[in-house]
Amino acid sequence: MPQSLAPFPKSRPRRLRRTPAIRAMVTENHLSPADFIWPLFVCDGENTRQPVTSMPSVERLSIDLIVEAAKKAQALGIPAICLFPYTDEALKTVECAEAWNPDNLTNRAIRAIKAVVPDIAIMTDIALDPYNANGHDGLVQDGVILNDETNTALVKMALEQARAGADILGPSDMMDGRIGMIRDALEAEGFSDVCILSYSAKYASAFYGPFRDAVGASGALVGDKKTYQINPANGDEALRMIARDLSEGADMVMVKPGMPYLDICYRVKSEFAVPTFAYQVSGEYQMLALALANPDLNGEAMVMESLMAFKRAGCDGILTYFAPLAAEILAK
Ligand code: PBG
Repeated sequence: MPQSLAPFPKSRPRRLRRTPAIRAMVTENHLSPADFIWPLFVCDGENTRQPVTSMPSVERLSIDLIVEAAKKAQALGIPAICLFPYTDEALKTVECAEAWNPDNLTNRAIRAIKAVVPDIAIMTDIALDPYNANGHDGLVQDGVILNDETNTALVKMALEQARAGADILGPSDMMDGRIGMIRDALEAEGFSDVCILSYSAKYASAFYGPFRDAVGASGALVGDKKTYQINPANGDEALRMIARDLSEGADMVMVKPGMPYLDICYRVKSEFAVPTFAYQVSGEYQMLALALANPDLNGEAMVMESLMAFKRAGCDGILTYFAPLAAEILAK
């Protein structure tokens, strides 16, 4: 419990807010570029940039430009990037075999980055949606998402990403049992040092819309993801998912989306005291990007305040499309 204050006027809390120097002394949380993981969208081609219309200033980049983005991240002090592929429609099938193609976009990008910027941490996404003719994170049969069959596919996908050189695997699919299966497979194949950052508390959220455009999965998606992602009305359930994934071998955990779920971030960090990340997702980005474009608002200050809120809630880091902008603002 916080120390109770002496009665006024012995206590005047404004004494500690009077000057910038005194305020700096009593600042509880700090934001730095080391707190950020920058999500990047990879597309085919050479020297190719494709604007994501629903996400101002965000572009899909061909692999040569992804390497440049990784260099930029490193120069800004951002320790990690996270790759998402924009897969050619012709490669999307109901079996999703492109997901574990050793030469798919993600795996080629990992190799290209590692060859030039070996020290940046590369995180990946493990889920079938960018490769799925159905747009779902799992295999679909007669409208039903198949759990165990999906896990077998996810393990193949994980191993190819590890072989390509990924440092951190991010299962975002919400199937049951996948963390344990991926961890066992990594151990068996000699990848005992590969980290798992599990999207453990991932909600069935309306805030993912722009992302689905960015990876080209919105057109394909039939129905919703409510049979595998968590009901936004639930909090305890998220804690159970965190406990489950840690017990199966996750090194780090994530809450997603971010700002509407700060209560979950706080509970996770307080309860488990493990490395806890939040994903400030595409819909949150879009709202704040609109604020940035609105001259009536101080958008930059709003972005920075939104990021600090994650630190105050206990997060160790934030996946955010604002990573380079925020790092530049912090460097000023
Ligand atoms: C899917 C995945 C999603 C995001 C990351 N991985 C979308 C979804 O579950 O539909 C969303 C990220 C964002 O909105 O920024 N595996």
